[in-house]
Amino acid sequence: MVQILTGPFTQILPLAGLPFKGAITDDQMLIISQGGVLTKDGRIVDVGNFEMLRKANPSAIIAGISGDHVLLPGFVDCHTHICFAGSRAKDYALRISGKSYMDIARAGGGIWDSVTQTRKATETKLAELITQRANQHLREGVTTIEIKSGYGLNLEQELKQLHAIKIAGTISKADLVPTCLGAHIVPRDFDGTSRAYLEYLLIDVLPKIKAKNLSGRVDIFIEESAFNPTEATNYLRAAKQMSFDLVVHADQFTTGGSRIAVELGALSADHLEASTDIEIKQLAASDTVAVVLPGASLGLGIGFAPARKLLDAGASMAIASDWNPGSAPMGDLLTQAAIVSAFEKLSTAETFAALSYRAAKALNLNDRGLLEPGKLADMQAYPCADHREILYNQGKLKPAKVWKRGEIGVNE
Ligand code: NIG
Ligand code: FE
Repeated sequence: MVQILTGPFTQILPLAGLPFKGAITDDQMLIISQGGVLTKDGRIVDVGNFEMLRKANPSAIIAGISGDHVLLPGFVDCHTHICFAGSRAKDYALRISGKSYMDIARAGGGIWDSVTQTRKATETKLAELITQRANQHLREGVTTIEIKSGYGLNLEQELKQLHAIKIAGTISKADLVPTCLGAHIVPRDFDGTSRAYLEYLLIDVLPKIKAKNLSGRVDIFIEESAFNPTEATNYLRAAKQMSFDLVVHADQFTTGGSRIAVELGALSADHLEASTDIEIKQLAASDTVAVVLPGASLGLGIGFAPARKLLDAGASMAIASDWNPGSAPMGDLLTQAAIVSAFEKLSTAETFAALSYRAAKALNLNDRGLLEPGKLADMQAYPCADHREILYNQGKLKPAKVWKRGEIGVNE
């Protein structure tokens, strides 16, 4: 296939050459003025000054950009639960009027309500719902999306969820990365202890997921209302032996989860709202990406995870949406990142890194999240002349153009 030169962009922020871990100042971020991107077969061949690239590649087809635009890598949302049916607006109304978690559970709300609603949906319907949500994300510049199961909670229903994600992945142009969250909570209709439920997942569910190649990642919710650290450790160890990559819902309300994530070499520890200096230090000394989920803090009305402290301690920090029907219904990743950056005092460079190559690392994907030769041509262009407009507009400024593997028009 021929080479395509796209540009000129008023600014290109390739986010290349920045560290995977620790704080980043804005002056570390390269900004290419009047830039162009040369692509071939969905991958980046070169990034640089548009006129220089044009002269050096006279046979390239020019895809002209008119008006001011700032080009960024496509965002990576490394934590979502968008495989669900129904709504939990009732929970939300109760929560904002001050009702407790227990009140909401008594009123029939909580995760179990979404399990019930999702179990009723057909695989086709679920695939349709996932596709709609993935395409909304894609229009907003999110080109890779992790999606968890976890509203099925038995063999048949977990397989249905993961199948639905697979089908949606063949329809949406976004890349969908499935994760098995069978260990979300103990389902109310399981006859046995939480330990027995985890055994069931290990013996009856994970081998089938592996055999059908439906997911290579396993997540668990370590929390008082879900699974305790000891049983979670055994579960994750066994999943690791089955060669699943590990991720953990950790330290959301109580600590314990992130230590296990670090000890077992999990790709990421997600939530961390309750992490203290001890957990921050452990995460910083590890290669586990600390994933901050501002959407859940906004949905629950609780404080943000200590993103600033994590970065200052030297951790790798990503920001994800946690898009789910209960605690994080908004699903607007850029808006959430803009809000957490204001509260946690994150630089523009740290915020963009957390949405791109650092989030890709949490998915163990090293072919995206930055614009440099060899990487996927997943890109988004904002209609402005200065990259600082993007966070300044707090999510209201959306990309005018999005490319997935070099293909333009996913949002037109
Ligand atoms: O990441 N913390 C556990 N699980 C989800 C919430 C899911 C739900 O409420 O349906 C989360 O916030
Ligand atoms: Fe989550």
